[in-house]
Order: sequence, then C-alpha cells, then structure tokens
Amino acid sequence: MKIRKVGVIGAGQMGSGIAHVCAVAGFDVCLNDISQDRIEAGLATINGNMARQVRSDRLSEEDRDAALGRIIPTNSLEGLADCELVIESAVEEEAVKREIYANLCPLISEDALVATNTSSISITRLAATTDRPEKFMGIHFMNPVPVMELVELVRGIATDDDTFTTAKAFVADLNKTVAVSEDFPAFMVNRILLPMINEAVYTLYEGVGSVAAIDTAMRLGANHPMGPLELADFIGLDTCLYIMQVLYEGLADTKYRPCPLLVKYVEAGWLGRKTQRGFYDYRGDEPVPTR
Ligand code: CAA
Repeated sequence: MKIRKVGVIGAGQMGSGIAHVCAVAGFDVCLNDISQDRIEAGLATINGNMARQVRSDRLSEEDRDAALGRIIPTNSLEGLADCELVIESAVEEEAVKREIYANLCPLISEDALVATNTSSISITRLAATTDRPEKFMGIHFMNPVPVMELVELVRGIATDDDTFTTAKAFVADLNKTVAVSEDFPAFMVNRILLPMINEAVYTLYEGVGSVAAIDTAMRLGANHPMGPLELADFIGLDTCLYIMQVLYEGLADTKYRPCPLLVKYVEAGWLGRKTQRGFYDYRGDEPVPTR
C-alpha cells in the first residue's frame, strides 16, 4: 500500500517531531491531540525546529512553507479518517493507548495501518486490543526526531509482511535508517541505553561522582554527545523510570532495578527539562547540577 496521508496522535515532543519529518518528506499529515492548546504548542515546536533547519541550510524556506502547509491540525479522531497510516504517539499509558485504538479503528479504512511510537510497551499486547493486529506494528522514533537517523521497527506476533514492508518503505521515504527489533521489553535502543542511564544514577547515588563529573566522564571518555544524566533530563526522568520498570518487570531480572534516586527525583516532580528541573536546574541562563 502506498502511504500518502499520515495521522499522528499526540502533538507532544515525539508526535510533533514525527509530524515534522513526515511533512518535510512530502506526506500530508493530520496532527491530532485532545485540545487545541496542545496542538498549538506542537505546531509552535514544529515551527521553531523547522526555523533551526532553515537557519542551518538544512531546509529551504520554500520547502519549509510547503511542509507547514501539509500539516492539518485536528482535535478529533474523525479528522484522521482518510489516513493510510496512523502513528499513535500519546502518553506511555497502556490504558490511554487502548482507548485511542478503540475510538480510532472504527473511523479509519479497514486497510489503514496503525502504528505506535511506544518506547517499551509490548506491540503484540497492544495489537491484540485492536481490530487489526496484522496491520499493527511499532514504529519507534528517537528524540529529537528531526535530527536522529534511526527508527526501530517492531513487529507484533501477528503483524503481516505487507504491513512490515510498507512501514520499511515509509521510513526510507523519511530518509531514516531502520533497525529491526523483536518485540521484547524496551526493544533494542532503550534496552541498552536505559540501563546505562540507570547505572549513571547509581554512580551518583553511591557518591562515586557528581552530576558534572559523571556527564563529563561519558561525554569526553566515551564520546557520547550528551552525558547520561543530561540525556536522562532530555528524555524525561518519568519516562526513564517507566522504561526501567518495564525492563525490571518484563524480564524479571534484578539487574534492571530502578535506582532509588531516580525514583526520588520523579516523586519530587523533577522530571528533567520539561519541568525545568532534574539532574540539572534549567531555570537560570545555564543548567546548574542539582547534586
Ligand atoms: N529539531 C531540529 N533540529 C534540531 C533539533 C530539533 N529538535 N535539535 C537540534 N537540532 C539541530 C540543530 O539545529 C543543529 O543543527 P546544525 O548542526 O545544522 O546547526 C544540530 O541539530 C545540533 O544541535 P545543537 O548544536 O543545538 O546541539 P548539539 O550539537 O548538542 O546536538 C543533540 C543536540 C542532537 C540533541 C545531541 O546532543 C544528541 O545527539 N544527543 C543525544 C540524543 C539521543 O541520544 N537521543 C536518543 C534518546 S533515546 C530515545 O529517543 C528513545 C526513547 O524512546 C526514550
């Protein structure tokens, strides 16, 4: 099946990034969220990020204007009725996702594909709650979506070959590279990345190094673009904790136990950049380590 129109459910950090790259690649995009405010915030993010790409000559002004013109905002799922592919990028709560699929599926064509951008929830389990498990799969983008080249593709047990082939071609059209993962907790990137971040939090918790020392160590000692604690703030500490819990419970191995200090930050509501405080305090001109 040829994808022409893509629905994106959720206009947050990931959803707006997905809408951004789809529109730049020439797809018509329906961007959906539950309120007009959220959609407008998502559109503002897209505008800001496209402006960055224009400033650095990665996108021409004409292409930016054309891409913005391809994004149709909609605060109702009915607005997604004629999409060939709908990518759900809502909050990482299984009950919310299930409700979205239950409301969405009767509205879209029976041939339409449904994908989730979940970072860790079982694709097979989510697929089983829909009317089309064979046309359902994981298309997992990385943050920031306009910059990161990788997309993980995850088939559920029932996903058919046509759906997988179409998703692969779609990702190629976005000029991104696919890595195929089996459907196991947190897939590949987060299975490897999040235990590293959790270990960095243990390193802090046990007093081996300060926030600044740990991040400097990994930036300059392992050539990572961001230190693990800076990256945790970027991903969101609630998301980091959630993924560790999925690994801990899904694989039943104590090596994945979330660090109590990570739990404490989340309990404080210090969730990283999005709340202006996490392992760093972002309320001033420069981020200041909180430990
Ligand atoms: N949209 C568009 N362009 C962006 C952007 C965005 N959101 N963020 C950065 N850029 C562009 C900048 O404009 C800049 O472009 P030029 O090189 O053309 O000037 C380029 O990216 C570099 O950005 P900056 O100079 O601002 O900063 P930087 O060099 O420190 O790079 C970064 C920023 C790309 C985020 C880099 O620090 C990085 O790669 N960090 C690691 C990110 C990472 O690991 N992501 C994966 C997280 S895990 C995940 O996403 C999975 C999950 O499910 C949790």
